[in-house]
Parts: sequence; structure tokens; C-alpha cells
Amino acid sequence: MSLQALSVASECFPLIKTGGLADVVGALPNALAPHGVRVRTLLPAYRQVLARAGQVEPVLQLPDLFGADGRLLAAKNADGADLLLVDAPHLFDRPGGPYLDAAGLDWPDNAQRFAALSIVAARLGRGLLPGFQPDIVHAHDWQAGLVPAYLALFGGRRPATVMTVHNLAFQGQYPARLLDDLHLPASAFVPEGVEYYGQIGFLKAGLNYADRITTVSPSYAREIRTAEGGMGLDGLLNARAARLSGIVNGIDMDVWNPATDPLLAKNYAVGSLADRAENKTALCSRLGLDQDDSPLFCVITRLTWQKGVDLILQAAPHLLEAGGQLAVLGAGDVQLEGSYQRLTEQYPGRVACVFGYNEEFAHLLEAGSDAILVPSRFEPCGLTQLYALRYGCIPVVSRVGGLADTVIDANDAAQAAGVATGVQFHPVTADALKDAIYRTIALYRQPGLWAKMQRNGMTSDLGWEVRAGAYASLFRSLAQENGVAA
Ligand code: ADP
Ligand code: GLC
Repeated sequence: MSLQALSVASECFPLIKTGGLADVVGALPNALAPHGVRVRTLLPAYRQVLARAGQVEPVLQLPDLFGADGRLLAAKNADGADLLLVDAPHLFDRPGGPYLDAAGLDWPDNAQRFAALSIVAARLGRGLLPGFQPDIVHAHDWQAGLVPAYLALFGGRRPATVMTVHNLAFQGQYPARLLDDLHLPASAFVPEGVEYYGQIGFLKAGLNYADRITTVSPSYAREIRTAEGGMGLDGLLNARAARLSGIVNGIDMDVWNPATDPLLAKNYAVGSLADRAENKTALCSRLGLDQDDSPLFCVITRLTWQKGVDLILQAAPHLLEAGGQLAVLGAGDVQLEGSYQRLTEQYPGRVACVFGYNEEFAHLLEAGSDAILVPSRFEPCGLTQLYALRYGCIPVVSRVGGLADTVIDANDAAQAAGVATGVQFHPVTADALKDAIYRTIALYRQPGLWAKMQRNGMTSDLGWEVRAGAYASLFRSLAQENGVAA
């Protein structure tokens, strides 16, 4: 029998994306279908979403949704997956991003905006939409953290809930005075409820009330149970350890396929790796980089502390002295942008940066660069290294979280067994990154070894099939616990 699931998130590729969350939320529904799980995805109808969604159909009125009436719209994603959109113009129809205004400040009503998303999800979980009774409600990150809470606090029969943590650093904490406003009972303002250090914690609430917690890699599932990686939630996560597991993200093998990708200068596959070179040529000429046989390292990232981009700045002079080149695509911290801009000016022809968010350019970077640097201080899963593996771009990663779980370091044993796919380093310091860059350049100078690593990455199992299967089994066992024959 097929299971019905409602996935609840604040981003979904290609409608709205600021990071990997969107890719995962966008790809999972079609990946779950062959496993007998039918997913509908609930999203805020941001201005960008309505502009891109194509045809929408109003299916329900949503009266009095945090200040005004709203509507529920049905739509289809680009890949045909079912979408439900919370159309509440007073909350979501505005310029700027999903979380921040044009000046980079949090929208002042984010608590209400994502409580609205969550309360609609909870009502749908209770069967608000005729003909749709979800067996599972799958909440992603803090923006959907109140869904399990509302479902538990409303009382009565409810679907099983799964809370997936894509990044524990973002927790959604709001003042206690909003309790009433957010339709949360005063009795829930306790450590066993939604209270978190005197505030209302959206993610905390989700972790507390969900039937199961998942995160996006087994290593990150372990790290978040430690004081060092738990970001204040390790106590709760330890208490719920029996209900916590890690499932590594997959990638959309159609969107990210070097053999068919329309955003490349030249398509290639594992059997025609030589064709890859045309992408490097195109990339270098677009960026004004010298065209020679230098190993070209790229970076594709949010410019934040998490991603260790400051360590790249420190290691860059060594990378350049050793004959490397650097191409950066990044958006975020303005000061970091300034530092990268100065590096570009200091090393013309050797360093190039593109600032801002540019989905298309990310594809050419993965296809044209020799290696990608991902020196994250923590990384729940990470997707850029997975895209790199698929594109024959060697990942150079810190040994943390999902990076540890998805890249096989080219140590002697891995090379002897012929299974290496990249380079890992630890601790996450500029010095260790520098050494990893030296190792990578030494490998690059051995073309046979390098090509073997490229082939290993390109043929490794990166798709969703097996990973979606893990979500499906989890959903099925939960539905059974909940009395649904699945
Ligand atoms: P996170 O979600 O923490 O930012 P991930 O590695 O999981 O990290 O996912 C990042 C996603 O966003 C990838 O699809 C990556 O290609 C994309 N991305 C990150 N920064 C940029 C950028 N500046 N321009 C285009 N795409 C970017
Ligand atoms: C978060 C994490 C990233 C992960 C992504 C998708 O943004 O920072 O590591 O890959 O979510 O799960």
C-alpha cells in the first residue's frame, strides 16, 4: 500500500533556494515514489515561488492566518511533484529572500511567517484537505519545527512525524511573549515542551515532539550529540538518541549529469574524460584566468564561518606558490567578500571571484575545475562535494559530518585498493588545509592516479535511490507503529 506523506519546508528547488535544503526537499518526492511513498510538499508562496510555479489552483481558504486571510494553492513542481503553497501575501509576498530583507536583516515577523507554515501543515496533517490524509508529516529544519509541536499539542489522532535537521546552527528562537500569538498553550512553555533557555525554540520544539529525528549524515548524527557539536541541543539529542539517525543526502542525477548538462561548454562522461578539458578552457577564459596546466581549485559556497572560507584565504598564498589557481563563487558575509576581492587584485590571472548566487555558474565550475575546496568547520552533509564527485572534480574536504561520510581519502590503503575519490584533512585549520592542498597538487601531477580518482567519483553511487529507500523504511515502520497498515 502506498503511504501518503506531507513534506514541510521553507525552500524547494527550483522554486526557491538558498542552499542544499532546497535541493534535498526538491529531489526527495520523486525519489520516494518508487518506494511507495507519495509526497506532497508544503511551501510558503513567496513572491519568487508564485512567479515560477506556473499554474496554481486554489484548494482551500485559510482564514485568519496570523493577521489576515490566506489560501492554500495546489501546483506542480518542474519535475511533476505535487506542491501545496501557503498563499498569505501579508506574510510571503515581498521582495528580498525567504528569511532576510534586501538589507540582509531577518524579516521581523519570521516567527509568525514560519508558525503560519507550520500550523497549516499541522491542520493538513489532521485531514484539512479533503481526500488527503497524510500518514507521515516530514518537517525540515527550524522553519517547520513547530509542526510536530502543533500536532502533539492539538490532541487527538495524528500522523507520525519526522523532524529532519539539515543544520543545527539555525534554531529559530523567539521571545516568550509570542507564545499566545503563535497559538502555543502556556503549559507548553516548559523544558519538556517548546521552551529553550527562556525563549520559544522552533527547532527545539520539533526535536522534542517529533516521533523520529533524522539528520543528513551518520557522522553528523554523532557529532550533534557532543557538547562541541550540539549547539546547546546535545542534551536533548542524547536523551532522544534511540530515535535519532543519519541518512546521507543524494543528488538529483538528472539535474547534475555532465553527459547532458546544458550549462556546460562541453558534455562528457566517464568514458570521455578528455572532453572535460574544454570546460576548463571556457571557465578560465570567462574568469580571465591564465590558460596553462595549473591545477584549478574552485570554491562554491555561502561565505560564512561554517564553511571555513577564512581558512582558504589563509592557505591561498601557499596554493598559489605551489602553482595552483583559485576560482570562487560565493555569497554572504560582506567582509569576507572584500578579502576575496583583494586576493583577486593581488593575484590577477591566478585568482578570480564571482560574488552572489549563481546556480548556472556553479555547474560550469564543477565541470571545469580540477578540484573543489570544502574546508567546513562542520557540515551536516554537504552537496557541493557530491556534485564534484559526479563531475570528476576532486573534492578536498575537512573530515567532518557528511564530508567524512562521502569522500574516500587518497591515503595509501585507499590508493592500493583503487577506491580513493578525494582528499580529507583534519583538524580544520589553515595549516592542515595547506597540507591537503599540497597533497592534492602532488596527486594532480600523477595523471594516471588522478584520472582513477575522477573515475571512482564519477561512478560512485550518489543518487537518491538507496537513500530514499532508507527514508521510506523509516516512514513505513513509523506508520505501522501508528497503526497504519503500510
Ligand atoms: P549549505 O546548504 O550548507 O549551503 P550544501 O553543500 O548542502 O551547503 O548546499 C549548497 C548548495 O547551494 C549547492 O547546491 C551549491 O551548489 C549551492 N550554492 C552555494 N553557494 C552558491 C552560490 N554562491 N551560487 C550558486 N550556488 C551556490
Ligand atoms: C544544510 C547543511 C548542508 C546540507 C544541506 C542539505 O544546509 O549545511 O550540509 O547538505 O542542509 O541537507
